[in-house]
Amino acid sequence: MNTNLSSSAPSQLETDCLVVVVLDRSEKDRNEKDKPAPSVECNDAAVREAAKDLIASGEVTGKTFETTLLHHPGGLKAKRLLLVGGGKAKTFSAAELRKLAGAAVRTLKGKNIRSFAFALPENGVSANDGVRAIVEGAFVGNFDPDYYKSDRKDEKIDAVTIITKGDPKALETAMQAGRIVAESQNFTRDLVNEPSNRMTPTMMAERAQQMAEEVGLKCEAYGADKIRQLKMGAFWGVAQGSDEPPALIVLRYEPAGAADKIHLGLVGKAVTFDTGGISIKPADGMEKMKYDMAGGATMIGVMRAIALLKPKVRVTAIICATENMPSGKAQKPGDVQIAMSGKSIEIINTDAEGRLVLADGLCYARQLGCTHLVDAATLTGAVVVALGYVNAGIFASDDQMYDRFANANKEAGEKMWRLPLDDEYKEAIKSNIADIVNSGGRWGGAISAAMFLKEFAEDTPWIHLDIAGTAWMEEAKPWIAKGPSGIALRSLVEFVKGWSA
Ligand code: BES
Ligand code: MN
Ligand code: ZN
Repeated sequence: MNTNLSSSAPSQLETDCLVVVVLDRSEKDRNEKDKPAPSVECNDAAVREAAKDLIASGEVTGKTFETTLLHHPGGLKAKRLLLVGGGKAKTFSAAELRKLAGAAVRTLKGKNIRSFAFALPENGVSANDGVRAIVEGAFVGNFDPDYYKSDRKDEKIDAVTIITKGDPKALETAMQAGRIVAESQNFTRDLVNEPSNRMTPTMMAERAQQMAEEVGLKCEAYGADKIRQLKMGAFWGVAQGSDEPPALIVLRYEPAGAADKIHLGLVGKAVTFDTGGISIKPADGMEKMKYDMAGGATMIGVMRAIALLKPKVRVTAIICATENMPSGKAQKPGDVQIAMSGKSIEIINTDAEGRLVLADGLCYARQLGCTHLVDAATLTGAVVVALGYVNAGIFASDDQMYDRFANANKEAGEKMWRLPLDDEYKEAIKSNIADIVNSGGRWGGAISAAMFLKEFAEDTPWIHLDIAGTAWMEEAKPWIAKGPSGIALRSLVEFVKGWSA
């Protein structure tokens, strides 16, 4: 998709469709029964005039994701005018704008429209932030995971023009930044969307390697020998059961001028298919476990964005890729594995495999000298019980690092919620015969999984993102297709940028 900027008056721009935001400027909230006060957020009298009757009729209210399409709008050079509702003006922010841009793309691409112009609303969002949000939202909305349909329509928007005024250089930079981040998010979504027979650990390593060559990153991909040689007994415990070879993928970004003291480590769970192993999962819904590599795919996408945005901070990503299969070679409940750090783990449930691969990934990141760790993983069903499909879970061992991440998260407009890591929860992972067990039982399952990981992050400041409920959209939303979401990538990129020297 091409992205352009224009400083022309919205009414004077020739386009297949002009998109304008309508906000509700009524002050009271809904349950106070205030009448909506829709306002066309466009500093162009001709545009407001064109929308006047629609507003007066009460058809357009400004409610979030309300879309109204008008043909031959009077006084406008555009062929069509699309009004998109953005909700209350009071709470409107870049996060809403991003989704509106996605909703506009998804509305128009299904109507055989291939290009449009989006008039940046002048409400509470700066021009630079607004341009970035629109570009990000448009790319995310343009993605559909329908590659394997033989009647694939391939409806895509080819070009979007953003109408705004401001410093052209700064706007151009914002536009390019948005593009890099969103294309990286879609790159991740592509990886996650692939079924496990088309995204084995080896294939994932190849994709990472190819991407690394394109953007100028160092990439190493190791197999079973190296995993055993590093004494990654926890990772190998999972990988040993599969005929498909595992992959330990390491991506390095080492820019000149970065501070010596900071070395960020990004660790991703990449279980390319999680059957549960000997503690096998029920058949119903098991097909979804192809997305159990989303954490790893996210880290690969983050590294792509970082390589192109070039912040001055050293970053290493470690992706632990394997299948989790039942077989004659598979680990069994009761087995004891010795992790790379030396800790012994009693395997209670072979379906709690994510924490095993991450245990050694985190340990390896520390060995490589990482000073701050972040992991992302589709780790637990329990996080879905706790937070549903709306928020990803954040766990942090260090409040300062959490504050940095929370700021980045807010900027990125992704929904996440912090969950606790009190020492009391450690009780749940005590073992009779080893240092810890790999399953803390039913209650607080997302937390005991995080407590398990904490044992391997040790004293290095660390954040864990449990994206089990958010990495896959269970249903389409106005701004995004059903399927892989690419959650956490934007927050992570923003977080990494925050460390730039
Ligand atoms: N990959 C799953 C977690 C998951 C669940 C991801 C739902 C996406 C959607 C993970 O490996 C797993 O199986 N976790 C178990 C842990 C339990 C055995 C302690 C779970 O959550 O049931
Ligand atoms: Mn599992
Ligand atoms: Zn899993």
